[in-house]
Amino acid sequence: MNIPKHIAFIMDGNGRWAKEQGLTRTQGHEKGFRNLINIVDACNELGVEAMTCYAFSTENWNRPKGEVKYLMEIPKQIDRENKDEFKEKNVKVIFIGRKDRVPKYTLKAMNELEEFTKNHTGMTVAIAFDYGSHNEMIHAVKEIAKDVQNGLDIESINEEMFESKLFTAGLPKIDLLVRTSGENRISNFLMWQLAYSELYFPETYWPDFSKESLLEAIREYNKRSRRFGAIKED
Ligand code: FPP
Repeated sequence: MNIPKHIAFIMDGNGRWAKEQGLTRTQGHEKGFRNLINIVDACNELGVEAMTCYAFSTENWNRPKGEVKYLMEIPKQIDRENKDEFKEKNVKVIFIGRKDRVPKYTLKAMNELEEFTKNHTGMTVAIAFDYGSHNEMIHAVKEIAKDVQNGLDIESINEEMFESKLFTAGLPKIDLLVRTSGENRISNFLMWQLAYSELYFPETYWPDFSKESLLEAIREYNKRSRRFGAIKED
């Protein structure tokens, strides 16, 4: 089986899962967080090089206060509970997205996790937190504009350079996007990076997305014929 190098996940359906179980939305996110750790483990065992996971979007601030507060506490929880496992498994964690709006305690945990895992050379887990693709692209444009102000020749701006200004710079190209819970949207996630990715939308809610579901996604990916805009040669 051909293992995708980089898989992106939109971890959707925590709320609906919780409702079906008679639990609160926060309990749904807690279960979703535990499942993220399981799926990190499964991807690592399979030899995936990078995962990017949508944990909080630039629009998610509009959710009820208590729900936002719980999600803001998860980086602290990962920092407390999962650091040693990441060390043992050589997993590197990075956070992509805005860093100017999250509470101080959240930012502190994010920085600590990044610092603690920065020399790990195994799989990279990019957690998209206060992330939005539009915001990321505007950020990249501003960076390039600054370079131009400092004398960069406009003609030297190209795709490779633009990519180097995105938060995902240095990660392999995304082979596969998985969005759970039966929603078929991209929702402002990695819009530049997904240009040639395979998209897969299982019905399963994220808390129920198991190692077996991951294998099923990879089997589906293996059935697809990727041509990157060219004509397929038989
Ligand atoms: C979407 O489900 C899920 C989120 C907005 C949060 C995803 C967060 C996790 C899986 C926990 C991991 C978190 C971190 C910070 C690493 P939803 O709430 O929109 O579900 P619904 O559509 O069924 O209501």
